[in-house]
Amino acid sequence: MVSLLENPLRVGLQQQGMPEPQIIVIFGASGDLTWRKLVPALYKLRREGRIPPETTIVGVARREWTHDYFREQMQKGMEEAHASVPLDELWQDFSKGLFYCPGDIDKPESYQKLKTLLSELDEKRNTRGNRMFYLSVAPNFFPEAIRQLGGGGMLDDPYKHRLVIEKPFGRDLASAQSLNQVVQKYCKENQVYRIDHYLGKETVQNLLVFRFANAIFEPLWNRQFVDHVQITVAETVGVEDRAGYYEQAGALRDMLQNHLMQLYCLTAMEAPNSMDADSIRTEKVKVLQATRLADVPNLSRSAVRGQYSGGWMKGKQVPGYHDEPGVDPNSGTPTYVAMKFMVDNWRWQGVPFYLRTGKRMPKKVSEISIHFRDVPSRMFQSASQQRNANILAMRIQPNEGISLRFDVKMPGAEFRTRSVDMDFSYGSFGIQATSDAYDRLFLDCMMGDQTLFTRADEVEAAWQIVTPALSVWDAPTDPATIPRYEAGTWEPAEAELLINQDGRNWRRL
Ligand code: BG6
Repeated sequence: MVSLLENPLRVGLQQQGMPEPQIIVIFGASGDLTWRKLVPALYKLRREGRIPPETTIVGVARREWTHDYFREQMQKGMEEAHASVPLDELWQDFSKGLFYCPGDIDKPESYQKLKTLLSELDEKRNTRGNRMFYLSVAPNFFPEAIRQLGGGGMLDDPYKHRLVIEKPFGRDLASAQSLNQVVQKYCKENQVYRIDHYLGKETVQNLLVFRFANAIFEPLWNRQFVDHVQITVAETVGVEDRAGYYEQAGALRDMLQNHLMQLYCLTAMEAPNSMDADSIRTEKVKVLQATRLADVPNLSRSAVRGQYSGGWMKGKQVPGYHDEPGVDPNSGTPTYVAMKFMVDNWRWQGVPFYLRTGKRMPKKVSEISIHFRDVPSRMFQSASQQRNANILAMRIQPNEGISLRFDVKMPGAEFRTRSVDMDFSYGSFGIQATSDAYDRLFLDCMMGDQTLFTRADEVEAAWQIVTPALSVWDAPTDPATIPRYEAGTWEPAEAELLINQDGRNWRRL
């Protein structure tokens, strides 16, 4: 029988099974992501009995830690970030499968040492040569890590060796293309898992189900009935202690080019032929290739950036971006970005998609809203000042769910209308729809299912769309010219204008 691991493309989203034992090698293991998200996600899978007990984790980073110290750090992380998860006998057993290998990304001897450790662990833990190399290092180290792994023969087997690459994949189109070239030199595409943790979220996967398992919305999902679409990912957190990374990334590279673009693809793409990875990813690429910034010659009419200044959040005073630890006081890095996309295809011609994301917004909320066209003539008087057309809102997080806004008659003698929401909440299932998403993505990768990972051409097509904005914004700018918004408020005035110029408003969430 052909194992699931040996036949990646035959494993569909629907099929749930147990992956083969394997070693997960995390590069950048001393960073936050490892103890906050990655190890907890793998432990969750182990508790749920979804990965075999032989599963082994090897952390790699520069610090001279021992296996035991790494185990202690992971346990501390669990206690701090996942206090409700019991660290019982199962944890003791799981943590016996945690190992650490100090090493430098650019030193071949580090990879030799790692290779030796992995062979020893194969014997000891029966992991059968199956490997997942997870690159959770600063993006500028990706190419070197891949070259060293590939050069050291550690990516040779397309069925046993997988490569997981965290975002952002490149800094722009040219660097994404050259990173893809390095990847393709050492790997087949079916070994490569470009991660975007938004695709691991239940509510994001539900976009596919909602659109393609229900017949009633499809006839409305086009330029004839949709006026415009808004995609918002607002966060309350600031840059936290990540200035080193964030200063280089900013909101466009950190969020819009990947997370928001994935939400966009799943909203705008055509129905795939099937649920297999390539059918879905091909449709995403097609819609990305048809997408452009609305008005490139007048960039401010289709792309706006912003940066938070000091303000108040939940009664507490918070610093502006410039005063955050590790941030250059003259930094031009945007913490907010809004864009207007147009899609040159039959379905969406003329329908704008407005995307926005920012840190230090008043609320943590991610939502996609489909704003339908208004009725051709208004016969009734609305009870509220502003009349809303029908809106279908898909809440990604929090309060996960879907609501449909429509007008009803207010009780009384007159024909006065009011907008109401018909609501579905994931909470009604009695189980939590959200997780950190990494558990799902780990499991899929271990099973060889690439559906929820981005393909080489997809990531390049996404960069292509934002290139006109990057080429202007990456040039040296006087930071004083970057629009500001006070922490704890919504977008800068310039971003209001981006949508107001079309006679529309951002949805108040
Ligand atoms: C990460 C970004 O990819 O996503 C962070 O690097 C951001 O800056 C985070 O805070 C948001 O993820 P989530 O799942 O909390 O919406």
